[in-house]
Amino acid sequence: MTADLFDELPVAVSRETLAPGAALLRGFAREDDAALLQAITELTRLSPFRHLVTPGGYRMSVAMSNCGALGWVSDHSGYRYDALDPLSGQPWPAMPSVLRSLAVRAAAQAGFAAFEPDACLINRYEPGARLSLHQDKEEQDLSAPIVSVSLGLPAVFLFGSSSRSDRPQRHRLVHGDVVVWGGPARLAFHGVAPLADGDHALLGRRRINLTFRRAG
Ligand code: SIN
Ligand code: FE2
Repeated sequence: MTADLFDELPVAVSRETLAPGAALLRGFAREDDAALLQAITELTRLSPFRHLVTPGGYRMSVAMSNCGALGWVSDHSGYRYDALDPLSGQPWPAMPSVLRSLAVRAAAQAGFAAFEPDACLINRYEPGARLSLHQDKEEQDLSAPIVSVSLGLPAVFLFGSSSRSDRPQRHRLVHGDVVVWGGPARLAFHGVAPLADGDHALLGRRRINLTFRRAG
């Protein structure tokens, strides 16, 4: 059976192209928001949010956790994916199907069929938290896209090219927006400007971002 995914888009969803290989699916996660937040609460009970330290010794302002077979971690020795949560010594919690399914559908909608994420980084931003420009390049399989889901307070997402010296574009992301980048955009530099304070109906003074990757 073949389904035309575009026909299944809810009315409130639209698709914008940020760059060749990069799409912004406005509102794509909105109808799953309650289930996503419930799952995130359970996941972060098992593997709590923590502020990682960069290889250079800086404490990150964004608090992080992971789910899936692999989790992204940073410490004095560098950035890497690890099957174990360094806080507990246990495997990261499994990726719930409500998360996986959303990521697979968003990837397909952006033109990346058969995405099989094995890692989901869960980022929590409080007012003032930011993520400096970086590339996601610790993943083994760069043919798979990155799928990024925004929940809670709005953020300014910086999205550039694969050259650090190109000035990034600024895109306002709100609750329910999903950005997918892969192919020619896979190594685009990206980041998040300092989060402005606010009060979101479901998340209060927070933004939560999920990024799904094929890491291993
Ligand atoms: C990331 O680059 O891992 C997160 C991006 C975001 O929070 O929107
Ligand atoms: Fe990233």
